[in-house]
Amino acid sequence: MKNKLIAANWKMNLDSEASDQLFKKCAELAKSISTTLVICPPATYLQTGNKRLSGSGAFLGAQNVNQNLAGAFTGELSAGMLKDCGCKYVIVGHSERRAQFNEDDQIIAEKVKIAIDNNLIPILCIGESETQRQLGLTNSFLTYQIDSALALVSKNQIKKLVIAYEPVWAIGTNRSASITQIEQTMSTIVNHLTDKYQQGLVDTAIHVLYGGSVTDKNCEEILSLEMVDGCLVGGASLDFNKFKKICRANVKPLATAQ
Ligand code: PGA
Repeated sequence: MKNKLIAANWKMNLDSEASDQLFKKCAELAKSISTTLVICPPATYLQTGNKRLSGSGAFLGAQNVNQNLAGAFTGELSAGMLKDCGCKYVIVGHSERRAQFNEDDQIIAEKVKIAIDNNLIPILCIGESETQRQLGLTNSFLTYQIDSALALVSKNQIKKLVIAYEPVWAIGTNRSASITQIEQTMSTIVNHLTDKYQQGLVDTAIHVLYGGSVTDKNCEEILSLEMVDGCLVGGASLDFNKFKKICRANVKPLATAQ
């Protein structure tokens, strides 16, 4: 049985004082719930996050990783550096990076591989555009994105993996996917993963999250869906009261910690 996992993507927001305060509150929250929390701050706050979250049960995640081990890549951060800062997770393939930083399928596959090779758990983001949904291409596009992103890692390399289904049109728009859309799409993703890997792995080690305008208002309904193992939260993760409600929504009293 998997605990629900809520990942906060702070994106390029907050300053050192505000992020410090938010880390402290998230650390307190993590101690009081069975939900697994993963906080992904801007890279400059990772080290503070590592100190503040230590011992709380919450995990630290990075928002990006370079696909190379080391070298002349000005401005980039390696998987080893993220591990040094205490990261356990890393977001890969977020639609903002795909669209604004030209990350293509090959780069994303390399990032997934370097993360796994360095014992970082990828939070692999996938999601269709509005046009793809209108054209009925959602399912085929998502299964394609999963296959291409995981093309460089063998089945037995996958010990833990997070897949975040984030429809591009729902990110930061206040227009979350409907419960029916989430249910249908999640089942495509879970069925595809079960065909690709063993049922046991999907049941225990792969979390499939929903992301895209998750708020304190819609979280209960979304997290009540059996196939939704948690959420990736952007905007609402910056407001602690909203984030707390999301983390506490639909929490089953489970003892298993990740
Ligand atoms: P949002 O962002 O919750 O603000 O829609 C989600 C994300 O980008 O991961």
